[in-house]
Amino acid sequence: MGTAVDAANKETNGSLLDEKKVTVVFVLGGPGSGKGTQCANIVQHFGFTHLSAGDLLRAEIKSGSENGTMIQNMINEGKIVPSEVTIKLLQRAMRESGNNKFLIDGFPRNEENRAAFEAVTKIEPEFVLFFDCSEEEMERRLLSRNQGREDDNIETIRKRFKVFLESSLPVVEYYNVKGKVRKIDAAKPIEEVFEAVKAIFTSKDEKGKTKHSRVHWCGIL
Ligand code: ADP
Ligand code: C5P
Ligand code: MG
Repeated sequence: MGTAVDAANKETNGSLLDEKKVTVVFVLGGPGSGKGTQCANIVQHFGFTHLSAGDLLRAEIKSGSENGTMIQNMINEGKIVPSEVTIKLLQRAMRESGNNKFLIDGFPRNEENRAAFEAVTKIEPEFVLFFDCSEEEMERRLLSRNQGREDDNIETIRKRFKVFLESSLPVVEYYNVKGKVRKIDAAKPIEEVFEAVKAIFTSKDEKGKTKHSRVHWCGIL
């Protein structure tokens, strides 16, 4: 006899988790801090599969899914889509990737995301890569991103910053208390940010699981 969480777990993760060790790195940071840009570099150098929660949600809208309108409305308001929807998309993408190393970008975005992912998948991240950048710089980047995203307008951007401060930073702090946050100064040029990212992925500490202490906030706060 199992709970609904056990059932979901069995259905979606059975082959994924039982047969191979899964490595997950959460990539967090404010909107426009450069998560997607750096994940593309990490994929090239370190063989991870990049899963952006935002990209998966946008693809779900395009696919004509029954949740499409709800997701679109949430994104336009900068709000966080219920975990159940996002976690299903992440699990499907993990299964279909054939890989066992994942960069999960833009997730968990709030406490509900975090707790539900842990309950359903039983996966603990190896570490959390946190891109620290000032709001002023993120706003500049978003306003010139030019990817045709409806939420890259100043009104929605302000809402997204508020949600980031109120709902997403507490998740970073949750992992910070556990010594799992690796903070990067994301205000630097792309190449310099990647040098810092590379140092983290190749660090002996990471491989040897040295205990990390808490980092101190700056930049964003
Ligand atoms: P996120 O995924 O965190 O929202 P993106 O990777 O999409 O951020 O980057 C947002 C915009 O900023 C993009 O146009 C990207 O080319 C640009 N960008 C990313 N990193 C930097 C950087 N270090 N310096 C300047 N611009 C950057
Ligand atoms: O990370 P990205 O900027 O692509 O996210 C765009 C939007 O997707 C967010 O503002 C939010 O509305 C939605 N999203 C979400 N839950 C996540 C990640 C993104 O609801 N975990
Ligand atoms: Mg992104």
